[in-house]
Amino acid sequence: MPIIEWNENYSLGIDPFDDHHHHLIDLLNTTYDDITAGEPEAHLASVLDELIDYACYHFAAEENWMKENGYPQAAEHVQMHDRFSLKIVSMDNEYSAGSHHLSLELVTFMKEWLLNHILKADADYAVFIAQKNAGQGIALEL
Ligand SMILES: [Fe+2]
Ligand SMILES: [Fe+2]
Repeated sequence: MPIIEWNENYSLGIDPFDDHHHHLIDLLNTTYDDITAGEPEAHLASVLDELIDYACYHFAAEENWMKENGYPQAAEHVQMHDRFSLKIVSMDNEYSAGSHHLSLELVTFMKEWLLNHILKADADYAVFIAQKNAGQGIALEL
């Protein structure tokens, strides 16, 4: 049973990032299912690594896009990604060192952070780009 159901509130209207968020949610659901199904540790470790790698890939894509588009809150946004990445990498290291109970804690933490982040911080850049594009539209019509 998935821990997250996709909900239209998570849609930003920006294709690559909506696709990334969908994929992250799929990976979180798969990881959760594998943990609760009692899959072997080696498998869980690789699923967790894939989830963390994909999160890092997504953050880098968002950060490049923000810089290219002159998003004024890019620096704060990067800090949020960095703090989160440090936390999950350190939890993953503890997990790899033998704290296997951390797998569920890691997935739950990622789920809560990610949904909150999409709805607030990511939604803010979607508003910014919509306003920027609307402004350009008016300028082009003049
Ligand atoms: Fe995002
Ligand atoms: Fe983000």
